[in-house]
Amino acid sequence: MYDRFNRPITYLRVSVTDRCNLRCTYCMPAEGVKLLSHKDILSFEEILDVIREAVSLGITKVRITGGEPLVRKGIIPFVEKVATVEGITDFGLTTNGIFLPENAVALAGAGLHRINISLDTLDPEKYRKITRGGDIGKVLTGIEAARAAGLNPVKINCVVRNSSDEPDAVAVRAFCAERGIEARFIHEMSLADGCFTIVENGHGGDCRNCNRLRLTANGMIRPCLFNDIQFSTRELGIREALEMAVGMKPAQGSVSSNGTFNHIGG
Ligand code: 5AD
Ligand code: SF4
Repeated sequence: MYDRFNRPITYLRVSVTDRCNLRCTYCMPAEGVKLLSHKDILSFEEILDVIREAVSLGITKVRITGGEPLVRKGIIPFVEKVATVEGITDFGLTTNGIFLPENAVALAGAGLHRINISLDTLDPEKYRKITRGGDIGKVLTGIEAARAAGLNPVKINCVVRNSSDEPDAVAVRAFCAERGIEARFIHEMSLADGCFTIVENGHGGDCRNCNRLRLTANGMIRPCLFNDIQFSTRELGIREALEMAVGMKPAQGSVSSNGTFNHIGG
């Protein structure tokens, strides 16, 4: 699929839940956000139908996101089914890493290729503060578990406030360099202010080369994280929603007032 600006659309990011075990300060308020009701969340079967249709239209890269994808029950068998969809050449998942120690082997065994793990600091106290209660020990163990399980590549996502030269980011960079892990630095964004920049060492935020579509946990296809446009797979049918989203993909992001990171996926 090509959009109006001749960008090839090959990448689908799939949010499987709006729920998360953490409450990162830049993502959610302490009390959490209004969660989708159970009936609004797509079943794994419905998500698989969207993925299959998207792949038949030319999607080759799929990433599972959330919320936190590892909190959804049945995620491993789901990953296993996605992995068997013919035509996916790149299959990744983004996680906060807390549940990776017990899931890394199963994820790799299910056929996941790669994994991105969020880590904004190496300081356990700061980590606890940023995530409002997270245990960094679990994440560090999870990173090693992912590597040992053969997930490749394992990448670190580090959200920075001002620059990737700030002390926490410098420490994360050194940690990754010592282990041969790639680190990506994501500037803290505000969807509502339309404030976003290119991800350092990554692809996000580079509008001219954007190849992405998103599927939200409630079945909306969104052509752009920084735009309110969305098409319901349940109301329009999957193919129609995908084609309309590609047809309406904006040249570049502006603002989004109707979405939050936890349900669109970061
Ligand atoms: N700014 C930048 N990135 C964010 N994420 C969530 N909220 C924000 C935000 N406000 C991203 C982070 C995190 C992933 C799950 O979502 O990269 O690692
Ligand atoms: Fe959860 Fe990720 Fe949001 Fe943190 S950034 S609260 S880990 S979804």
